[in-house]
Amino acid sequence: APKAIIAPSILSADFAQLGADCVRTMDQGADWLHVDIMDGHFVPNITFGAPVVAKVRKHVDKPSAKYGRGTFDCHMMISEPKKWVKEFQKAGCDLYCFHYEAAYSSAGESPEAKTDETTSPRELVRYIHDCGLLAGVALKPATGVEVLTELLESADEKERPDMVLIMTVEPGFGGQKFMASELPKVQALRKKYPELNIEVDGGLGPGTIDQAADAGANVIVAGSAVFGAKDPAEVISLLRSTVDK
Ligand code: DX5
Ligand code: ZN
Repeated sequence: APKAIIAPSILSADFAQLGADCVRTMDQGADWLHVDIMDGHFVPNITFGAPVVAKVRKHVDKPSAKYGRGTFDCHMMISEPKKWVKEFQKAGCDLYCFHYEAAYSSAGESPEAKTDETTSPRELVRYIHDCGLLAGVALKPATGVEVLTELLESADEKERPDMVLIMTVEPGFGGQKFMASELPKVQALRKKYPELNIEVDGGLGPGTIDQAADAGANVIVAGSAVFGAKDPAEVISLLRSTVDK
């Protein structure tokens, strides 16, 4: 499996001092920052949008390489994900991870039902790549991994996502209980795709990292477990060593 990438979720940061919190988390050993975008429609909560991401970007250097330190991993819990790709690219996002369910729910059953704001997951991955970003596809707990086969095995590199995000809670809030029931999805993906970046998000911390690492996850999101820790650097290093062991 690829090496560990630790991505603290800034959903658990102090939004009144977001820039400083992001810099501190990076100094404590984070690889990426996981940026949770919620629109109050796809999920029952609202966070912030591109203008905030652009301001935070000024505090954290752009990564110098693909997947490098300082990658802004934007988890788009929004309807109409295609509509916001360019905005987030301009704001300094590096990886745009949309929800598979949002791409399809707005695409409709027939090609005629598509509008400019709607798209199939395959078209959306291509579009994100054309905008110069890494592309991620996220799955809610109710969605099975088999929906991803077409994308992950596409003959066209532009249609293949750079990362898959398996949610281990229902998206919407930090601090929820880890759902171990989602790990077979991680296992199945790891078995088929040894080099794929597989991210897990929700309820990850010292108590749950062993299971997630054993299943084959390598990109680890942790919000409350990092920001709520007495010693966040220690938690980040524990998460990393567990994945890389
Ligand atoms: C939940 C978000 C997560 C959240 C994780 O919808 O996608 O990124 O911040 O928080 P914890 O790690 O506290 O479960
Ligand atoms: Zn998230």
